[in-house]
Amino acid sequence: MHSILFEKKMLTQRKHELIRKARVNNVVVMKQIINTYSKEELMLARSLSEMYENIRDYYVCEIDGEVVGCCALHVVWEDLAEILALAVNPVCARKGIGTKLVTACLEDAKHLGMKEVFALTYVPGFFETLDFKVVDKNTLPRKIWSGCLRCPKFPDCNEVAVLKSIHS
Ligand SMILES: CC(C)(COP(=O)(O)OP(=O)(O)OC[C@H]1O[C@@H](n2cnc3c(N)ncnc32)[C@H](O)[C@@H]1OP(=O)(O)O)[C@@H](O)C(=O)NCCC(=O)NCCS
Repeated sequence: MHSILFEKKMLTQRKHELIRKARVNNVVVMKQIINTYSKEELMLARSLSEMYENIRDYYVCEIDGEVVGCCALHVVWEDLAEILALAVNPVCARKGIGTKLVTACLEDAKHLGMKEVFALTYVPGFFETLDFKVVDKNTLPRKIWSGCLRCPKFPDCNEVAVLKSIHS
């Protein structure tokens, strides 16, 4: 996905880190990062067309001009939004990038007037560090299962639902 040079640079020095809204020319790299995990069935694969259609939902983290992570906030209903497609290049793991991406989405949710944000995840521990609480999936509206229907693991997945209240 990235040059060995980039990986070496990541381990030794990183100059300029930026969280920003995604642009269409970031989608191919975003999909590559997501694929790293989706091929191991750790997250849902996303098609290019779906990503282009929803590009306004996405944030990216860029380091020295290179996209190293992405995350989307998708509005489900008037008071509920979902965090999805959260993925950080493994080379850059545990450097706070996932936290910054989700924080940007939470700011967006607040700005939009959302009351609650949820995610379906295999890493509830990560979301708990951001004050999400584990909830029973069945307490969430049926509409949220649309993504799950495309998942190879459906209906026998053990993803956990996490939910956070947004205070305006
Ligand atoms: C989960 C993920 C986004 C975390 O990104 P990250 O940039 O490495 O996370 P951060 O550095 O911001 O982590 C902050 C804290 O969250 C917790 N955390 C991070 N990854 C975790 C994991 N896999 N399991 C449990 N807790 C985790 C840790 O407490 C961490 O703090 P620490 O490093 O000081 O211990 C990243 O590992 C990833 O892309 N995973 C694969 C895709 C995925 O599961 N996406 C979520 C789908 S909803």
